[in-house]
Amino acid sequence: MPLCPTDILKDISSTLNPSVNPYVAKMTAALADGSIPVLQGSALKDRRGHWREAFAGQRENQAPSNRKLIVEIGCHLGLTLNQMAGNHQDADFIGMDITFKRVVTAAERAVRQGHRNVITVLGNARAMDSIFADGEVDGFVIFFPDPWLKRAQSKNRLVDEAFAALLATKLAPNGFVWMKTDQEIYFKEAREAFCRAGLTPSEPIDFFAGHAYESTFERRFRLQGLPPHGGQWQKPFDDRLC
Ligand SMILES: C[S@@+](CC[C@H](N)C(=O)[O-])C[C@H]1O[C@@H](n2cnc3c(N)ncnc32)[C@H](O)[C@@H]1O
Repeated sequence: MPLCPTDILKDISSTLNPSVNPYVAKMTAALADGSIPVLQGSALKDRRGHWREAFAGQRENQAPSNRKLIVEIGCHLGLTLNQMAGNHQDADFIGMDITFKRVVTAAERAVRQGHRNVITVLGNARAMDSIFADGEVDGFVIFFPDPWLKRAQSKNRLVDEAFAALLATKLAPNGFVWMKTDQEIYFKEAREAFCRAGLTPSEPIDFFAGHAYESTFERRFRLQGLPPHGGQWQKPFDDRLC
């Protein structure tokens, strides 16, 4: 069930019939009892600027620290999100996606794998301003956001100039964006957009310690003989344009 809210804080799980979609029922239960780390609607209203406290609470009584906060946009069923969370236990990970099934499944996977540094969020990443303060995020991961686009649909791509500017605003100094796509033209246009937003092309980000993180869609394309096009960008301390 896709979701395209302009208001990410609007409660929608309570307005839907849980018998139509079992993931709505799981979301409703999780919001009530915290059984899996998935959030939606008003459960997000106090998170802006306070994600580190929220993760500290999830790990029970650990004081908030300077742990890095990484956000995966389009986390799908949580494969990459949970691989990263497992490899980087000193950082916290938020996965955003737009269907109940994807964010619930990704959160269930986190519980199964014992990760207490993962929270998933149902919501359109374009509306992230209501849940992230400026400079709050240390890194964005965006893998294969809009695959297989026909040329006529390219105006609907997620990563455009406005979105690149939004990501740059939410990043802390030295924060990064890691994007991969199946389309070379999309990659080139995104690269321009990130540069115009003040992000600079980067060598492989140290944080990932050489992990390639082949995502579900990357694997699908590889099996069809299609290579990924990707890059990493960083927000400089002095906001120089590249
Ligand atoms: C093609 S899939 C790629 C999934 C995964 N990142 C991978 O590489 O295997 C794109 C994902 O982005 C999600 N998505 C699309 N638009 C989004 C938006 N505006 N905000 C958050 N997620 C979005 C989709 O629901 C889907 O799960």
